[in-house]
Formats: sequence, C-alpha cells, structure tokens
Amino acid sequence: MTTFADLGLSPKLLKALESTSFTTPTPIQVQSIPHVLKGRDLMGLAQTGTGKTAAFGLPLLHRILDITHPPGPRHVRALILAPTRELVQQIHEHIFAFTKGTPVKITMVVGGASINKQSERLSKGSDVLIATPGRLIDLLERGDVSLEKCGYLVLDEADHMLDMGFIHALRTIAKHIPQKRQTLLFSATMPKDIEEIAEAYLRDPVRVQVSPPGKPADKIVQGVHFTPQGDKGRLLESYLKKHEGEAAIVFARTKHGADKLAKLLVGWGFNAAAIHGNRSQNQRERTLAEFREGSLAVLVATDVAARGIDIPLVRHVYNYDMPNVPENYVHRIGRTARAGAEGSAVAFCAPAEMEEFMAVEKVLKKAIPVLGGAPWAMDVAKAAAKPGQNRNRPQGGGRPGQKPGNRPQSAKPEGGRSQAAKPAAAAPAKGNGGFGAPHKPASAARRSPARSGARG
Ligand SMILES: Nc1ncnc2c1ncn2[C@@H]1O[C@H](COP(=O)(O)OP(=O)(O)OP(=O)(O)O)[C@@H](O)[C@H]1O
Ligand SMILES: [Mg+2]
Repeated sequence: MTTFADLGLSPKLLKALESTSFTTPTPIQVQSIPHVLKGRDLMGLAQTGTGKTAAFGLPLLHRILDITHPPGPRHVRALILAPTRELVQQIHEHIFAFTKGTPVKITMVVGGASINKQSERLSKGSDVLIATPGRLIDLLERGDVSLEKCGYLVLDEADHMLDMGFIHALRTIAKHIPQKRQTLLFSATMPKDIEEIAEAYLRDPVRVQVSPPGKPADKIVQGVHFTPQGDKGRLLESYLKKHEGEAAIVFARTKHGADKLAKLLVGWGFNAAAIHGNRSQNQRERTLAEFREGSLAVLVATDVAARGIDIPLVRHVYNYDMPNVPENYVHRIGRTARAGAEGSAVAFCAPAEMEEFMAVEKVLKKAIPVLGGAPWAMDVAKAAAKPGQNRNRPQGGGRPGQKPGNRPQSAKPEGGRSQAAKPAAAAPAKGNGGFGAPHKPASAARRSPARSGARG
C-alpha cells in the first residue's frame, strides 16, 4: 500500500500528518500528489468526501516549504479559491493542521468579516491565501494584497468556480496573477461544457479521474419519494422522527423556504436551524458550529452548504426541494458518507420538480430507487406550479431552458446555475489571464450570469 512518504512529501509534512488521523493516502491523493510535486497543472476529479483538500493542500505546502525566504509584504505565493465562506474557513483549518511545525504562513479572507483586519493580516505577506472571490477582489481593488508573485492557483469546487456565477470574478482575479504558474482544479463533478472552459485555464494538464465525474460517494443509500408539495413537511417529519438523534441536513431551494421550513420543524419540536446567504456571518458561523459539534440536530440549508462542507457525523441528507442545478444533487448528498462512512439521501419530488429530477438522474446515469409514489406524468408535471411560485407568474432563474423571470425575491434559488442563453459570456478573455489554449465558446453560451454568490 502506498504511504504518504512514498509520494515524496517532505519530512516536515510527514511529521505534521502524524498528529492528524491520516495514516494512508486516499486514491485521489495517491494519483494527484506526485504530479503536483512535479509542477504539473492538474484537474482532479473524485467523489465527495474522498480527500481532495489534502490532494492539493499537501503537495502545495511541500512546494512552498522548498522556498526559504519569506513572502514580501502584501505578496501571496499560492492562492486557493472556494465558493463559500464556510468552505474557505474549513479549507483554512485543514491546511493549517498540515503546517504544524513549519514556518508556512496561511491567511484566509472571506466576506462578512472586517476587511481592515484582513488587510492588516495580509500586510505581512502570505505563503498561502485562501479566499472567496468577492472579498479577494475588494482587497485587490484597495491595493491591500498583491498576486504579482503568486505561482499557484487552486480552484476547489472548480466546475462551480468556472460557472457563470463566478467566472467574471475569476477573470478579474486572473488578471492579477502571472500566467506562468501552476493551476490545480478539483471537484466531484465536471459538466462537459464547464470542462471546455476549464481547459483554457490549464497548461498541458494531467487529468486525474478516480471515478466518473458526478458519481456519488459509494456508501450513500439513495431514494426518492414522489409526493405532492404540500405533503413534504409531514414526510420529512416522519423521517426525522425515525432517525432521531442522528445529524441531518435538509436542503431547500430558497432562503425564504429554508427559513420557513426551519421554523416549522422547530414548531414541531425538532432541534433545527437554517443556514443561507441572508443570515449574518455570525449567525452562519454559529449555526454551522453548533451543527458540527452535535448540539444542533437538523440543519436546514440552501445550496450555500451543498459543496465541500465536511461534517463527519452527518448521517442523512434530505432533498426537500430538488436542486435547480443537477450536479448540486451529487454535492448535497455528498455531505453524508464522508471518508468511507455510511449515509442516506432521500429526495422529495413534487410534480413541478419532475424536470429537475430527470436532470439529476441524467447526471447520475442511474435511476434513484423509488421509496414512495410514482414518477409524475409529464402533463401533471407541466401543469404544476414550481415551489415558492405563483402558478401564473413567469418562471425563471435556474430552470433549464428558461430565461430568468420576475420571480419574487423570496423564491429565488440560492447558489444555482442558470442555463438561459447569454452568448459566450463565460469565455476567459484573451490576454487577461485566459492563459493557455484559446477558449471554445460554443457550449458556454448555454449559461447565463444570473446567479448570486460571487461576492462571498
Ligand atoms: N488520507 C486520509 N486519511 C484519513 N482521512 C482523510 C484522508 N484524506 C482526507 N481525509 C478526511 O476525509 C474527509 C473528507 O475530505 P475532504 O473534505 O478533503 O473531501 P473532498 O474530496 O474534498 O469532498 P467534497 O467533494 O465534498 O469537497 C475529511 O474529514 C478529511 O479529514
Ligand atoms: Mg472538497
């Protein structure tokens, strides 16, 4: 069996690993680390919960440990970008644990926290900066940080980072980074059209694919109920009662929907709370911390918690609403069954969500076992109102093949990807960091920039 030492990691890192629970590298780590150590660009695809963070974090730290002089004031040697504040914080914690006993300086910047304090921390320079794109742009605009000497760029949740919600921010950031650098992209999903965009950001990359992109983690037991929207609450209640005391995440489509559902569950006596983009950073952090330590049993979340979040005790994921981005199903259910653990994922599909459900099965290339009801006939599905919507209103934002409409604010999906047409908007512009091969814009044209989240 391959060991971390066999992969060629520095003795300092091997020493730091001794104080973690990591004994043997996971497949994505075995297959990626040697390439990253050699300086290759890389796209790494592996199921949720299989250790992608260390697959980029460890070799990155190894390369930085080789440099003996400290980074200059405000300079950054390596940049890791992730889509949400919570994920940035988590990556920071994980990477920080690997730097124990080394002089490597790690800094983190996210929205919702004091920019002046972040600026002060950046003033001394950072070996590794972990950031959400929005806050990093704010700091770049203020001249508080320089990426002029940044030799490494990592995009965690790469397909999401290259999607319309973030691509503009990413292009802005890329302008500040030298073209000569090592770029690493990691995710559990990689839709074909995003992969084309990704290629333009990589130079002669190695592609490491441990499992087909979009394959859910091995030990997740999945199921779906076809149920009228109005029956979902009681169905969820029965599941939560059946598994009382076991940590569960319930995914709702909108911030308003998440709040409403959390209130309903609290009213029914469950220890539940919501996390979404409209809650203050303090509330977000407190809720997640309580859930992490087990004092909160049920976390009701929008897609803000769909990607990357690593909470080993999560046993159940409920898709109360189907995700409007099919790949997010894989990420949502991947919040359970991490690092080889077991977990269950139950989806509730109302008639109006049949289209989303079918899109999910297409990504999975597999049918989800039916636990209740039967797939809705297309005429029933088409006649149904979308959750949170008035049947007579125009529908939009994230619905396949539809343009964003005048949806009431409360019913806006969070963290979704809209697929309405907007020609070639995702192409990295020539000469502004679109390093590498010219971009093929054709399939990018299917995605629109209507999405929130880039100002993390
Ligand atoms: N070699 C290892 N040995 C033991 N545990 C590990 C190892 N590598 C990672 N882990 C643990 O596995 C869990 C999942 O790791 P990580 O969050 O990096 O997964 P991921 O592949 O990035 O998942 P996602 O796609 O959901 O972001 C973490 O708790 C991490 O500490
Ligand atoms: Mg991850």
